[in-house]
Amino acid sequence: MGKRFFKQTIHDVDLRHKTVLVRVDYNVPLLENGEISDDLRIRASLPTLKYLLSQHCKIVLISHLGRPQGRDEKYSLAPVAVRLSELLDYPVKFVDDCVGDKVRQTVRRSSGAVILLENLRFYPEEEADDTQFARSIARASQADYFVQDGFAVVHRKHASTHEITMYVPGVAGDLVRAEYDAITRAMLSPKRPLVAIIGGAKVSDKIGMIHEFINKADQILIGGAMANTFLEYKGYNMGKSRVEPGQHDVIRQIYQAVERKVGRERSDAFLLLPTDVAVAESPDSQERREVNVANIGVNDMALDIGMQTIERYTAALAHAGTIVWNGPVGLAETSTFAIGSARLSLAIAQNKHALSVVGGGDTADFVLKWDGHDGAAFSHVSTGGGASLALMAGKKLPGIESLLDAYGLGVVH
Ligand code: 3PG
Repeated sequence: MGKRFFKQTIHDVDLRHKTVLVRVDYNVPLLENGEISDDLRIRASLPTLKYLLSQHCKIVLISHLGRPQGRDEKYSLAPVAVRLSELLDYPVKFVDDCVGDKVRQTVRRSSGAVILLENLRFYPEEEADDTQFARSIARASQADYFVQDGFAVVHRKHASTHEITMYVPGVAGDLVRAEYDAITRAMLSPKRPLVAIIGGAKVSDKIGMIHEFINKADQILIGGAMANTFLEYKGYNMGKSRVEPGQHDVIRQIYQAVERKVGRERSDAFLLLPTDVAVAESPDSQERREVNVANIGVNDMALDIGMQTIERYTAALAHAGTIVWNGPVGLAETSTFAIGSARLSLAIAQNKHALSVVGGGDTADFVLKWDGHDGAAFSHVSTGGGASLALMAGKKLPGIESLLDAYGLGVVH
């Protein structure tokens, strides 16, 4: 992994025969019948768990699932215990609470099994970063160390990601470190040119990230419904397209920052917008018409980038040294309007020299489906949606900040 991490990791402390409380993100999609439809996040936790087993640790796992309002069996982690046991090829004991005597007794008596505790969010104290709750989890688990390996949740300041480290010394797991390293390497020491693709629905969700990329990238390609908002700002008639209201000041500031960096005459070559789009009168339409952005009809909705734009964007990706992608460039859940995102995926996969980092959430869902091999065509596909966005926007992540500093271990970060 090269340079040391700025926080202590599971490899920096002696974990042999210790009890470890591991925060994972098993917030996985469940079908109506309780079946797990995508186990990527469970699989992503295996390297850390296997390492801990090799150190003869007693492992107590904690996670959230969904956003329940109090105890709600629909959000139980019980099905996850079954899948984890299959994937880890090791017994997993499930406890239907995350604090209290039942947990304490199970941890005390158990050997030869990993323990998974019930959904932390059955208690409102979890999201409130409640210190007594954090202490109760720590006490019940009897842990010597806390391991943060739930990268997808490190942007949350919750009892199990933040306050818990007041009661148990915290170190990073392999997933957290790998995610942090891949994303920050692309942002802070990219092989140039660094090309960013920013899509998705809302400009307002991604302002911080856009400004980071104005500072750090050599070119930014805009797509998705976000591009509609930019095009409308530029004066194009967007018909019935989804446009985010109230963003003119935000976009003006974005262009001011771009002009400060590259000058007015180069701003459109730095921040690329679609020159043509695929339109339909409804998102459910299976017919894709392509029009120049100057010719969008009153009833048209722009739902994907057009072929000319695909050519311009893929040409930029072919010469990139580093590619960071956050947000699909069209309505990627429908095959008719996933063409832009699929062609960009292909262009990234074909550029074997580039480091390619794909943000989590919708973009990761899309590329993993497109790829069919767990994202092997990309250097790194993040398991975290909000977390990868926050990291790309240069924000500090409470779930990582709270871990033991690696200061004194020869870290330069
Ligand atoms: C995610 O899926 O992004 C994480 O599990 C965090 O979930 P949350 O947005 O409900 O906090």
